[in-house]
Amino acid sequence: MTKYIIANWKMNMGKQEAIAFVTALGGISIPQEIMGVLCPSFPLLGALHLPPTIALGAQNCSSFGSGPYTGEVSASLLQEMGCAYVIVGHSERRTLLGETSLMVKEKACQVLDHGMTPILCIGEPLDIYDQGRTDVYLKEQLEESLPDRDFILAYEPVWSIGTGHTPRLEEIEAVHKFLHNVLKEKGFAHTPILYGGSVTGKNAREILVLPSVSGVLVGGASVSFDMFLTIIESAT
Ligand code: PGA
Repeated sequence: MTKYIIANWKMNMGKQEAIAFVTALGGISIPQEIMGVLCPSFPLLGALHLPPTIALGAQNCSSFGSGPYTGEVSASLLQEMGCAYVIVGHSERRTLLGETSLMVKEKACQVLDHGMTPILCIGEPLDIYDQGRTDVYLKEQLEESLPDRDFILAYEPVWSIGTGHTPRLEEIEAVHKFLHNVLKEKGFAHTPILYGGSVTGKNAREILVLPSVSGVLVGGASVSFDMFLTIIESAT
């Protein structure tokens, strides 16, 4: 089974650092069963020459096709720049920038319309987790953001992102199984589900061996080349 290792650099990495990272990446061999994806900031998309074993992804795109939308970036341009994947609905965009599930769905459809794969993020905030309402919350968020064609789902508990706290392994497995069942009911029986939230070189292996986990979405740890390499090695 393919394991996805997605690096979400967020608003980190300058041009020189990014080029040095990608040059180092060219020197390592990545097993065929691993799908590595690097998602840098928009201006770096055209500046990085990735090795053939790593795909290019974007962290966001516009929910509109093209036109007078100052500061937005269209899916068609991302496709022209060589992106194969686009992250949509990351919790930082949902919480800090007010993205609704409807906007996320529209973005996912834009990505699909331009031949790329959306990586659709969902996740519950801490109060919902504490109240034991994770499943209900995720189901609703997923149903509202669900595109009509194939995508990759990333389960990222909001309280786990950037905090160093992760759910217990059995909790990750239970949530992924639940999401698999929800997706199956909707006709998406084979959608890969990734885990994201404080994945590091230390915990990647135990998370990646969980049967329902098809990969990881990595933020903070993905800007360190050594840590990213350890995470890739953990997937084999
Ligand atoms: P983190 O972020 O790995 O820094 O917790 C994950 C993400 O936001 O995708």
